[in-house]
Amino acid sequence: MRTLRTIAEARDALPREGIGLVPTMGALHAGHVALFTAARTENDVVVASVFVNPAQFGEGEDFERYPRDEEADAAAAEAAGVDVLFVPATEEMYPPGFDTWVEVERASAGLEGDARPGHFRGVATVCLKLFNIVRPDRAYFGQKDAQQAAVVERLVADLDLDLAIRVVPTVREEDGLAVSSRNAYLSAEEREAAGALPKALRAGEEAQGRGADPLEAARAVLGAESRLEPEYVELAKLDGRVYLLAAARAGRTRLIDNIVLEGDPL
Ligand code: PAJ
Repeated sequence: MRTLRTIAEARDALPREGIGLVPTMGALHAGHVALFTAARTENDVVVASVFVNPAQFGEGEDFERYPRDEEADAAAAEAAGVDVLFVPATEEMYPPGFDTWVEVERASAGLEGDARPGHFRGVATVCLKLFNIVRPDRAYFGQKDAQQAAVVERLVADLDLDLAIRVVPTVREEDGLAVSSRNAYLSAEEREAAGALPKALRAGEEAQGRGADPLEAARAVLGAESRLEPEYVELAKLDGRVYLLAAARAGRTRLIDNIVLEGDPL
């Protein structure tokens, strides 16, 4: 595996065809590995980017304390079959004078977009830059961040980008909690409470199956876990499917999750 740090190096080293790109912010875990594995099956060259993108973090969010461990990330990426790790510095991606931003308007409204103003503008901008730098045929995103995947799909369609977006199902821990870099922040007690989030989504799915109200069922389960502070439980149509999506806080840590209620499972 090669590690590239500059845009010039990436342009020089990467082939013009056959590339699968997996954009990440590092702290690589089983969820990222599922994306690497999917990319490995259908591309000649798998590129993973590791960049903690300051533009997608709001005031008072966890940009400074976001887990960073390049050595561990390199080992995990190499073990999962990644060929090239692209690890740019902040000044490489946002040099002085940087002034262009991408807004995907309606897809960024509601849910995470409301909870984190400016978040998807930062995501869309960095993804467009990564697509231009790496020039992949395919890029891989997780269902875990379903609204993000929908924003990126809209970006690709609207700006006529010549690549396919693949969405990979959420990888979960044994109790159902979606694997996430932010789970590392959880105390033992918060970690235990966090299991209520996927449990609430499953209760919603089960309610839907018997013709009851999925929102009411999910909100009841989430509300019963006093150690979590619910932020939203909503239904939304993304890429033609109906999703049940939820966000909650465990202490200072924000957790999000979703399941498909109607439409083909991913
Ligand atoms: P990050 O949180 O590192 O996630 C990178 C990718 O891994 C995203 O597409 C995310 O949806 C996916 N992922 C995370 N946890 C997952 C899980 N449990 N199962 C399956 N996939 C999972 O998302 C970002 O970084 C950034 O916003 C980024 C797209 C890199 C832009 O900066």
